[in-house]
Amino acid sequence: MKIVELFAGVGGFRLGFGEHHEYVYVNDMNADANLIYKKQFAHDCDNRKIETVPANEIPDHDLLCGGFPCATFSIAGSRVGLSNTHDKGLLFYEIIRIISTKKPKYVLLENVEGLLTHENGRTFGVVLYELGRLGYSIQWQKFDSVYFGTPQHRERVFILGIRGEGFNALPIIPKSKTYFDGMVIQLRRGKVRTFAKGTFPCLTASMGTGGNNVPFLVGDNQLRKLTHEECELLQGLPIGHTEGLASASRYERIGRSLNPRIAQAIMKKIEEHERIKRNC
Ligand SMILES: C[S@@+](CC[C@H](N)C(=O)[O-])C[C@H]1O[C@@H](n2cnc3c(N)ncnc32)[C@H](O)[C@@H]1O
Repeated sequence: MKIVELFAGVGGFRLGFGEHHEYVYVNDMNADANLIYKKQFAHDCDNRKIETVPANEIPDHDLLCGGFPCATFSIAGSRVGLSNTHDKGLLFYEIIRIISTKKPKYVLLENVEGLLTHENGRTFGVVLYELGRLGYSIQWQKFDSVYFGTPQHRERVFILGIRGEGFNALPIIPKSKTYFDGMVIQLRRGKVRTFAKGTFPCLTASMGTGGNNVPFLVGDNQLRKLTHEECELLQGLPIGHTEGLASASRYERIGRSLNPRIAQAIMKKIEEHERIKRNC
């Protein structure tokens, strides 16, 4: 399958989809993300702001994926949604601009779960409307990483658009939860939060800034910050995937990434469908 990865970061979608696909165009404006992408996939990442990239410069493709910036919709964010012209929410319309020209068969988007409830669902309604009017049938599902072998409570919504006649790819029935044996604390907004139920709190992009949001492990007469490698494991990334960045930036890139195991599970459904179609 020919794939375009927008807002690619350190390549969470690509890690999940695998290298048997052809990645025909990748974009992210962040220099550190570009560095890791190039190092891990030996593949260049266009670092122009996506708003400045003409759609006809992007090669034809079968699937476009992107975890578009979520500050807008996050329950921790300002919740201004798609309506504010200064806001990152407008980047959703860049996806619409590109798919209205390139018309890929599949569109797979990821965002924070707050997208579903923002403005009593009106923002998500706009997302559905815009994809629907371009001829996509749409399915979505809220996933929690804790059901994908990674004991982190991280809820994200994945939206799958299939051009023309759709098929049931979602929902994916989750496996059982993964717990770890221990206690975690986290300093957030000046408060200490305790997590004793065996799941880690959601790793965030800001956990690198000053380090005070990086969860702390408690036990064995010690209290210590999770290492970069432990954070990578909790995100479903290969250990060492983000190695080479300065410490704060490394925590940030991990906190921004998506869990490749979820991308993998959705791609498996798409591949199954494509296989059956070919054999008919
Ligand atoms: C939520 S992160 C996506 C992370 C990615 N899915 C991963 O697995 O690492 C959003 C990304 O969008 C990029 N971004 C934000 N605004 C952009 C723009 N205008 N053009 C291109 N990339 C942009 C950021 O640099 C960031 O890496």
